[in-house]
Amino acid sequence: MDVLKAVIPAAGLGMRLLPVSKAVPKELLPLVDKPMLHYVVEEALDAGITQIVIVTSHGKDALADYFDPAPHLEKILEERGEASAAAAMRRMRTEAEFIFVRQHEQLGLGHAVYTTRHAVGDEPFAVMLPDDIIDAPTPVLGQLLATAQQYNGSVVAVEEVPPERISGYGVIDPEDISDGVYKVLDMVEKPSQQDAPSNLGIVGRYILTPEVFEALSRVKPGAKGELQLTDGIALLMEIQTVYARRFEGVRHDAGNPLGLIKASVSLALKRPELGPALKEWLRSKMEE
Ligand code: UTP
Repeated sequence: MDVLKAVIPAAGLGMRLLPVSKAVPKELLPLVDKPMLHYVVEEALDAGITQIVIVTSHGKDALADYFDPAPHLEKILEERGEASAAAAMRRMRTEAEFIFVRQHEQLGLGHAVYTTRHAVGDEPFAVMLPDDIIDAPTPVLGQLLATAQQYNGSVVAVEEVPPERISGYGVIDPEDISDGVYKVLDMVEKPSQQDAPSNLGIVGRYILTPEVFEALSRVKPGAKGELQLTDGIALLMEIQTVYARRFEGVRHDAGNPLGLIKASVSLALKRPELGPALKEWLRSKMEE
C-alpha cells in the first residue's frame, strides 16, 4: 500500500487556547522555536510522505503564509551561524509539497477530512492532528505505515490510557493480532469509565483507505453538531477490517495550555543548547 499524502486538519476554532487562538492559529503556536504544525510536517517527511494537504479556514491564512518559501531569510540565518533554524526552513521548502483546502464551517474533524476528498483522490492517505505532538524513536506515522502495509488496511494509532482519563478518548474494542497490533471490533467515542471496552484510546494519527470518504458522507452529526472522524471509521468497518497499532513514543496534547507547556518543556530538554540550563532552572523552581 503506497501512501503519498498526509492530511493535516487545522481549521478548528481552538477554543481551549483562547484568547491567543483568536488571532494566531493554534497550530502555529510555538513549541520552543517552531510551530507545532512544523513538527507534524517533519514527522510526515521522516516517514517518507511529502505531499501535505492542510485544511484551513477563514482567519487562518497565516498557516499558508508560514510555508511560503523564504530563501532570503535562510541566507541571513546561515550568515549569522544559525544553521539549524535555516535547515528547518529549507527542509519545508525543498522536501514538502503543500496543498491548502478550505473548510468553510467548522463542522468537526470528520467533515474537515471529508473536505480533502478531491485533493486526496482514490488512494490511501494519512491523517495527522497537529496538536498531537509525539516524541518517538521511529516517527509514529512510519510505525502506522508499516502496519498498514503488512495488513493492507486502515490503521489508527492507540495508546494505553489510565482509567480516570479514558472518557476523553475514542476507545477501541480490540482483538489481539500480534504484539501491539489489534483488529478493531468496535469504537466508542468518549465512554464512561465503566463502559470503556478497553484502555486503548485513539490518538491523532491514522492511515485510511479512500473508502472512508464515502463512509464520511453518511455520518450524522453527533452531540455537538459535529461530524466525527471515528463515526466515519466505524462505518468503514462495515466493509473493511480496520486495525489499531499501539505506538512507541510519548504523546502530548498541545491543544490545551498545560499540554502546550509540557510539550514545549519536553522538546526543549532534549535540545543540547537549551536542555542543561532549563533542567537546572526547573530544579531550582522545584526547590522554591
Ligand atoms: P480539536 O478537537 O483539537 O478542535 O481538533 P479545535 O477546534 O482545534 O480545538 P478546541 O477543542 O476548540 O480547543 C483537532 C484538529 O482538527 C482540526 C483542528 O484545527 C485541530 O488541528 N479541526 C477540528 C478542523 O480542521 N476542523 C474542525 O471542524 C474541527
